[in-house]
Amino acid sequence: MKLTQPHRDALADILQWRRDVRHFRPDQLPDRIRDTLQKSMDFAPSVGNARPWRVIEVASQNARKAIIANFESANADAADIYTPDRRENYVALKLAGLQEAPLQLAVFTDLAVEAGHGLGRQSMPEMLQYSTVTAIHTLWLTARAENIGVGWVSILDPAVVCDVLAVPDTWMLTGYLCIGYAAEEDDTPLLDRNGWQANSATRWERR
Ligand SMILES: Cc1cc2nc3c(=O)[nH]c(=O)nc-3n(C[C@H](O)[C@H](O)[C@H](O)COP(=O)(O)O)c2cc1C
Repeated sequence: MKLTQPHRDALADILQWRRDVRHFRPDQLPDRIRDTLQKSMDFAPSVGNARPWRVIEVASQNARKAIIANFESANADAADIYTPDRRENYVALKLAGLQEAPLQLAVFTDLAVEAGHGLGRQSMPEMLQYSTVTAIHTLWLTARAENIGVGWVSILDPAVVCDVLAVPDTWMLTGYLCIGYAAEEDDTPLLDRNGWQANSATRWERR
């Protein structure tokens, strides 16, 4: 397939408007969207074609409550590392849409995956987790193309998430995703807009 300028324009829009979303409308997503997001991950690259990502949809109220409690505890610990001034800024940030996001996915990497027969990850075993990151990013862009927002939550104790969701010992938490319709859209990262961290251009050197 030969791609043309309209494809490039569409991709540029998706990239520019794919932001990390933490403010969601509570409206449920159509089932079609869940299927589309699931299928999008099938297109992600992975080391040795191992496809080590494993997804758990966190749907029960009990599990959701446990994840929120986990976030609140990890977030309070995280705030402690800052000086008082910066801590005040930190605690004012909204860093997760766990209360509202209608679809929540815990995305794991199976560190014992046999698929791929170890190809490409002997000297750099972390490639398995990087593969899962590519699947998450593929889902993220696909969601944006459907006018759906995604927020990545990493302020969690992964051992607690594994325990709450009773996943196998070989699964490592790679990302926890809040997904839903964004309450507001923007083409600039929230952390830039609220003064926490300005955007910078990619550092790219030639040697
Ligand atoms: C690996 C990873 C973990 C992240 N964890 C969090 C998080 O716990 N809370 C949060 O608010 N944003 C989190 N983010 C989103 C970043 O804050 C966001 O990507 C960054 O500020 C740039 O904004 P943008 O995604 O809108 O371009 C995470 C992003 C990545 C890639």
